[in-house]
Amino acid sequence: MEQLLKQIEDYKNEIGTAVAADAKAIEEFRIKYLGTKGVVKAIMGEMKNVAPDKKKEAGQLLNEFKIFVEDKFQSLKVAADNQQQGTGNQIDLTLPGDELPLGSRHPVTLMKNRIVSIFQRLGFAVAEGPEIEDDWHNFGALNLPEHHPARDMQDTFYIQTNPDWVLRTHTSSVQIREMEKGKLPIRMLMPGRVYRNETVSARSHCFFHQVEGLYIDENVSFADLKQTLYFFVKEMYGKDVKVRFRPSYFPFTEPSAEMDVSCFICGGDGCNVCKKTGWVEILGCGMVHPNVLSNCGIDPNKYTGFAFGMGVERPAMLKYGVNDLRLFSENDIRFLKQFTAAI
Ligand code: DAH
Repeated sequence: MEQLLKQIEDYKNEIGTAVAADAKAIEEFRIKYLGTKGVVKAIMGEMKNVAPDKKKEAGQLLNEFKIFVEDKFQSLKVAADNQQQGTGNQIDLTLPGDELPLGSRHPVTLMKNRIVSIFQRLGFAVAEGPEIEDDWHNFGALNLPEHHPARDMQDTFYIQTNPDWVLRTHTSSVQIREMEKGKLPIRMLMPGRVYRNETVSARSHCFFHQVEGLYIDENVSFADLKQTLYFFVKEMYGKDVKVRFRPSYFPFTEPSAEMDVSCFICGGDGCNVCKKTGWVEILGCGMVHPNVLSNCGIDPNKYTGFAFGMGVERPAMLKYGVNDLRLFSENDIRFLKQFTAAI
């Protein structure tokens, strides 16, 4: 019995100081003390050597010892779990957050949105059409029959397997699609990408963007066209900018005009942007040709309308001080991330 007490005391001291840092050490502890060939089992085996009158006392001691070892085993496991959480999964809430790179809108989109939002205030709705267009919508219906010389100015890319398809040369094709729907009146703005067979340089590209406008109703006059465009120019370029219309020719409008604004870079004195003329060309416009209305099933004796079309890249270049058209399509992140305006 004396010897048994001594053994238990020694093991208790040993176990009391035991630390187990990881799962492997804890398992070793379990095998050593609680396993089938472990210390607890071995000491229990000593019971047979204890004198009968001491058996009760020894039994209690041995039970206490067993509970002591099991408690220690549990506390080692908890300690190891806590330690692992502390090192592995701990989140330091005081660290600064990860920076999320914010995108920005493309300068061409910014300018397009600016143009669209001005006309939206006049009640124009927005429509889009396909970039791969058939000959009829891009040319024929717009009063540009095959072999018409005006087609020369808008050479484009053709699709070999079907020569009737072209990459559209202007957004005017969307006018036709809107008129064909047969719902009048029409007050539409049609932004989109267009293509031309041009050599790529700082000043010209094989694709660019336009915004087209169309207004068809009874009694629409050239005065309505001018008033609408005056409003646009004031909103876009400011109250002091002057406007002039020059007679021009487009097969799909009659009469046709080109609209200039006084140069907003030099104020009209003459600079490189306005080529010393004091004027910058902004758009083409006119009254929709009666043939175009008929081509779309609209009675030209009852309805009249005006249309206009403007480029997006040039005003964007002037507003943002971009001097090479190619920058818009090179996707250079250093260029693109400079445009953070809200619209
Ligand atoms: N489609 C013409 C172009 O790309 C621009 C244009 C001129 C559109 C007059 C119009 C218009 O709607 O009335 O050169």
